[in-house]
Amino acid sequence: MGVVDEIKERLDIVELIGAYVPLQRAGRYYRALCPFHAEKTPSFYVFPDSQRWHCFGACGEGGDIFTFVMKREGWDFATALEELARRAGVELRPRTPEQARADEERARLQSAVAEAARYYHHLLLHAPEAERARQYLARRGLSAETIARFQLGYSLPAWEALRNHLTGRGFTPAELVRAGLLIEREDGTAYDRFRDRLMIPVRNPQGETIGFGARTLEAEGVPKYINSPQTPLFDKSHLLFGLDMAREAIRHEDSVVVVEGYMDVMQAHQAGFRNVVAQMGTALTETQVRLLKRYTRRFILALDPDAAGVQATLRGLEVARETLDRELVPVFNPRGLVGFERRLGAEIRVLTLPSGQDPDDLIRQDPARWTALVQESLSVVEFVLRRLLAETDLEDAKGRARVVDAMIPLLRDVGNPVEREAYAQKIARALRIDARTVLARLHEAEWQAAQRMPGISETGRRLAPEPPPTPSAVADLEGYCLATLLRQPWLLDAINRTLAEWDIPPLHPGDFNDPTCRAAFAAWEEMLGEGISDLMQLKERVPEAVAFRLDHLPEPPPDLADEQWLREGVQTALRLRERNLRRVKTELRALTEEAPPAETIQYGQALEENARALLRVQQALHSRCWATVSFWAEAPCEGELG
Ligand code: UTP
Ligand code: MN
Repeated sequence: MGVVDEIKERLDIVELIGAYVPLQRAGRYYRALCPFHAEKTPSFYVFPDSQRWHCFGACGEGGDIFTFVMKREGWDFATALEELARRAGVELRPRTPEQARADEERARLQSAVAEAARYYHHLLLHAPEAERARQYLARRGLSAETIARFQLGYSLPAWEALRNHLTGRGFTPAELVRAGLLIEREDGTAYDRFRDRLMIPVRNPQGETIGFGARTLEAEGVPKYINSPQTPLFDKSHLLFGLDMAREAIRHEDSVVVVEGYMDVMQAHQAGFRNVVAQMGTALTETQVRLLKRYTRRFILALDPDAAGVQATLRGLEVARETLDRELVPVFNPRGLVGFERRLGAEIRVLTLPSGQDPDDLIRQDPARWTALVQESLSVVEFVLRRLLAETDLEDAKGRARVVDAMIPLLRDVGNPVEREAYAQKIARALRIDARTVLARLHEAEWQAAQRMPGISETGRRLAPEPPPTPSAVADLEGYCLATLLRQPWLLDAINRTLAEWDIPPLHPGDFNDPTCRAAFAAWEEMLGEGISDLMQLKERVPEAVAFRLDHLPEPPPDLADEQWLREGVQTALRLRERNLRRVKTELRALTEEAPPAETIQYGQALEENARALLRVQQALHSRCWATVSFWAEAPCEGELG
């Protein structure tokens, strides 16, 4: 038995979910108000028999214990696996002696930093030397509650205060140097890194303190902030200040505001704006965007109006645009479907601050202003356009052409075609050129990209007359599906395009019941989004239990023509989907039988939707039409439907 199965066997879904939401027994099931969306009547169900959950309300999602904690805690699969393994008392893997040592070291260093935070906090609250720091905080308007929530502290103006405190608790100076708390002298002795500063603990998303930002109390003459150095625990580019406290709010409001500084975050949280995090002096990095993406796809970047800030934000925008997932959309030209393009599956907006003010000042003066600024934040397209217009001589034809060129990639990212055209019009108006010129450039770029998409290299390509039958009927359908997808990197896109033709949602992680397959699929999809399709890399990215599964997948057929791969892939995907829709149908049927009459209407609707989805899948499965959808052949095939 694999570790995943062992965990599932040992943890009871009712108990696990019950620890997050109060579950009510309803016949053979349990139900609750859905923890993932706001609702008044419970439509979130837990099924002890199948050990699955499902929301039949607005989210319409379901899954097992892994998907639940991933969604609820914002964990990736690796974290969920580790955490649930720990709760279940399952040893994930026999750790090598080095790994065991590294884990132990990390835990030691973390407890040293945590103890330092407690020590600094205690000093801030009680030490006579901290009077100036206390006054400073009062001047900056931070309340006692904020000080406690962020565990703010004060480091004494001494060389060995922390050192003595922590060595007194059993830590060695060498460890404290490695934790970034002490600095080593030439002669091997070590002294306190942070002296006479306001101490701001920096925590990871799990809430563990791993480093500090330390602000001077002087007005000038010294570096304003000293941060913890790079340590095994602390990596600035992988962290966002405040994320541990902002997670819930980000998810709840489905948006995150990224600001620049510690103070901005603390002030915002204090004023009740809790979806705010800071990048700590670096431009937004890819890892940071990835971290945030788990909680929301709506990013608002708060921008300092000075030039350096704008540059940093533009860089941040680039990173965000490159890192965020893209969704496939069809591209049409006047003669029909050309192919598919990837569009940004996220919304990035820019909040421009008034000159000379950061969020900290602004929120203190007038919290309502902040709300207004967030509401008025501009889409990336608008923001960049305004910037470009401000610095372009509109009389110069070359200058105008450069603006159009710069805007095209941004326009191509806009998912909604109506919005995209509206922006194109707007750009044309601003440049006082013919809108058709901009639209023509945009369409040209789109068509070119659409034709370059893998799997549809030649337009009008025809299908082989009769593809030979291939072995779809295998026991391990999920493993087989995965094996097929991994063999042909272009296949996933092609399958999804085909499903879209049938009005069937794309293949998604939830189609896989086996958590290892699900995690492998999600990682593969993410890699493809980054333009990587390397199996070795996939194995490196996933936890060991998943890599093990990847090594034990069923064999996909040996050599197939592209059309046959597609046929095979689509059929496997449809079967997975059919199986899951059937399961949901069974669950719903059982619920309608037991539910009070008032609620059966709700399930009636869900049942109808389920029936419609199932019908589409079954029609697709039993028709050969999907093999001749329009990007393989020009002729549509409605005649064959049903
Ligand atoms: P700011 O100078 O805007 O700092 O730098 P701030 O947070 O608004 O602080 P106050 O309001 O002056 O007290 C923005 C961020 O850049 C990093 C810090 O993370 C800071 O919060 N920074 C700045 C440093 O790391 N070192 C510095 O010397 C300055
Ligand atoms: Mn500031």
